[in-house]
Amino acid sequence: MSNAVRKAVFPVGGLGTRFLPATKSMPKEMLPIVDKPLIQHAVEEAQAAGIEEFIFVTGRGKTAIEDHFDRSFELYDLLEERGKKEILAKMSEWLPSAGAVAYTRQQEPLGLGHAVWCARNLVGDEPFAVLLADDLVMADPPCLRQMVDTYGDTGGNLVAVMEVEPEHTSRYGIVDVDSDQGKLVQAKGLVEKPSPVEAPSNLAIIGRYILRPEVFDFLGDAERGAGGEIQLTDALASMLGSTPFFGYRYSGVRYDCGDKVGFLHANVAYALARPDMADDVRTFVRDIAENL
Ligand code: G1P
Repeated sequence: MSNAVRKAVFPVGGLGTRFLPATKSMPKEMLPIVDKPLIQHAVEEAQAAGIEEFIFVTGRGKTAIEDHFDRSFELYDLLEERGKKEILAKMSEWLPSAGAVAYTRQQEPLGLGHAVWCARNLVGDEPFAVLLADDLVMADPPCLRQMVDTYGDTGGNLVAVMEVEPEHTSRYGIVDVDSDQGKLVQAKGLVEKPSPVEAPSNLAIIGRYILRPEVFDFLGDAERGAGGEIQLTDALASMLGSTPFFGYRYSGVRYDCGDKVGFLHANVAYALARPDMADDVRTFVRDIAENL
């Protein structure tokens, strides 16, 4: 099997209760970072990594995501009529081509492992990427691009990792490190959301994965783990005997956009990175900080 990564899975079935009331009638993945929805950031990152097929595992109330990745004739006609050529061009450049997007529903909120398993028939028998839109990574080259370039040499399961505060291990999948070569780490164990005393390290999985298709067999047999959910981390741990697991220390900054404060950090950071608004935002942030 070649190590080419052509398909990406986007689990977008989550309810987004942490962002209520904003997410009462709107998918959390549509929350914008400046003017671009989180899910579009993830899709563009996948495109930059050479992904050709985009598989969304959705749920009830998520049709806004499907509409977002479709052509909107009324809007295009209006922009055309009003001579807004620049905006019009920008609205098309990130749209996946017809037939490159597929949607399937998770049906029950049984966890990330179950969401990924729901994509098994659409992925088939080849390595694939998983991107969690909540984890926004500002990086150049983009995080998944860095990983795809590395995957040609490593194969196996390759997952983005970062050091977290020891008291935060219970928010993440944590790596039990076997050997540490700096950029790459090999694991001898993985634990989903351990308490700080149980955690084998403070090296955490973040939401970028390149996985072997055999993971679907393990997910199919999986029992419920942390939080009563079918955990992707547990399936990857079960695979360790047959499939090597590599943690990849990416270059870049990750923002936890599943968290309100992390989401605000991301908005400020992305605004400051935008030439059209950086000066204004920098002045505003300085002024407001001085008056605190
Ligand atoms: C999921 C994974 C966890 C990983 C995290 C990264 O957890 O289960 O292993 O560390 O994403 O954001 P969630 O944040 O969905 O609870």
